[in-house]
This record gives sequence, C-alpha cells and structure tokens, in this order.
Amino acid sequence: MSAAASPILLEAQGVEKRYDKFVALGGVDLKVRANTVHSVIGPNGAGKTTLFHMLTGTKTVSGGRILFDGHDVTREPDHRRVRRGMARSFQVTSLFLTLPVRENLRLAAQGVAPAMALNCWSPPVGRRSCADTVASVLARLGLERHADTPAGNLSHGQQRRLEVGMALAARPKAIFLDEPTSGMGIDDLDDMKRLIQGLKDEHTVVLIEHNMGIVMDISDTITVMQQGRVLAEGLPDAIRADDRVRSAYLGNMITGGKA
Ligand SMILES: Nc1ncnc2c1ncn2[C@@H]1O[C@H](COP(=O)(O)OP(=O)(O)OP(=O)(O)O)[C@@H](O)[C@H]1O
Ligand SMILES: [Mg+2]
Repeated sequence: MSAAASPILLEAQGVEKRYDKFVALGGVDLKVRANTVHSVIGPNGAGKTTLFHMLTGTKTVSGGRILFDGHDVTREPDHRRVRRGMARSFQVTSLFLTLPVRENLRLAAQGVAPAMALNCWSPPVGRRSCADTVASVLARLGLERHADTPAGNLSHGQQRRLEVGMALAARPKAIFLDEPTSGMGIDDLDDMKRLIQGLKDEHTVVLIEHNMGIVMDISDTITVMQQGRVLAEGLPDAIRADDRVRSAYLGNMITGGKA
C-alpha cells in the first residue's frame, strides 16, 4: 500500500494553544497516515514542540480536537493516550545509566514508567512476548552487541538510539520524536536516519527535525509550520520547491545541512 493510501491514524482539527494572550498555535490541522514518516518542520518558535504536547496530551489544548486511532482523545491525559498507542521518545536523562541496555529496554517494556503500564510480563501479553519485544528492539537499534553494556557507557549517538528504543519497547502505534539528532556527529546521523526510516514497517512516526537532509530523505509527508500555523504541507519534492517555504524558512539550506 502506498503512503497516500494508508488510513489516517492521527488527526488534529483546528488545534489551538494560547498562553495568556500569546497564541502559540492558531488552529492547526494535521492528518498523519499510518505507517508513514510525517515530519513537522519550521523555524524556532513556530510551535512544533507545542503541537507535540497537544497531540500526546502533555499539555491541554485551548481549542480544537485530536483524534487518534478512531477515538477523540482531546481531553484524555497523556497516560491514557500512551495506552492507546502513543509514545514519545525519552531524554537521555531518563535512561538508567548504570543498568545494561537490555535491562533499560526490559524496564521500558514492562511499563516501569507508570504511563507505559502495558503489564508486559503478565497474561495476556506474557513473558515470552515481552522478551521478544526486547530482542526485536535491540536488533532495530543495532545495539545487540551492547546488550550487556551499561547505558552510561554507550556513545552519545547510541544513547540517543536507546532513547528511541525505550519508546519502542512500549510497542506504540505512533512514535513522536522531537529532534532526535540534535547534538549528533555525522557518523551517528546516518544510524539514526536508518533507524527512523525503518520504523514505519510497524509504526507511524511523527518527527520534528531541523536537519533538512534527513527530513527530505525519509519523510513521506512534511508539514511546515510558521508562527503557530501550517504554512504548507506535502511531499518532500513539493515542499522543496515551494516558494513560501523557501522564503519563510529554508532558503538555500534546502540542499542539506542544519537549519
Ligand atoms: N509555557 C509557555 N508559556 C508561554 N509561551 C510558551 C510556552 N511554551 C512555549 N511558548 C512559546 O510558544 C512558541 C512556540 O514554542 P515551541 O517550543 O512550540 O516552538 P518550536 O517550533 O518547537 O521551536 P524550536 O525549533 O526552537 O524547538 C514560542 O514562541 C514559545 O516561546
Ligand atoms: Mg521545539
């Protein structure tokens, strides 16, 4: 099935967020199709992270609706949305640095964070499938060789991949990644890019990313935000060619490198 034909998993309808009189989101519409990489780009302060907070329920909306997997989740707290299959990538600070990589993933799969209460080790999910989850996430991350290494001994790039893995261990339908490559060296960038690109076989990826080379390479759809609104949306080639986008944001950076 082509990306354009897959069903809509996540939809924002006129989502608004105000902080007193400041309008951080001025009515954002978004449709994210299942098993795609959907990137959200735009200049600093455009409202990308705020939109993620609205979609995942970290903060409440001031207006509009959010639909996920056939449910209106607008008023649901984040832990309920996690149970419906949303996962955010964790920060490095939330890794258990003294514990081996495998243990980190096991704890994430087990739902140590209350929000991830999958109850992985008890029926009907079962011990077996939990161990399978850890093994398959390890393979995805390319960290099998480091399964017994304490997370604190991994390189920065490996730790960033493990953060993504912690979210994956909850077996989400949709995974939200906010600047997963920030602070990364060039070698680690390729590994992260491949990891994200590979996720859409089983997951839907919503990605905030400033590295235009990566965005253009791996996105099925790109939404461009500016000042709390959607400026443009489309396939990478259309976004690359869009004059409004170029003047608002991309300029001559479109060919690659960091924004
Ligand atoms: N708690 C808050 N109170 C007031 N204003 C806020 C709050 N959180 C965010 N904002 C403002 O909302 C706007 C959007 O911020 P947001 O963090 O969503 O931008 P962003 O697109 O993620 O930017 P960046 O690329 O720098 O991460 C900014 O002007 C920011 O200052
Ligand atoms: Mg942000």
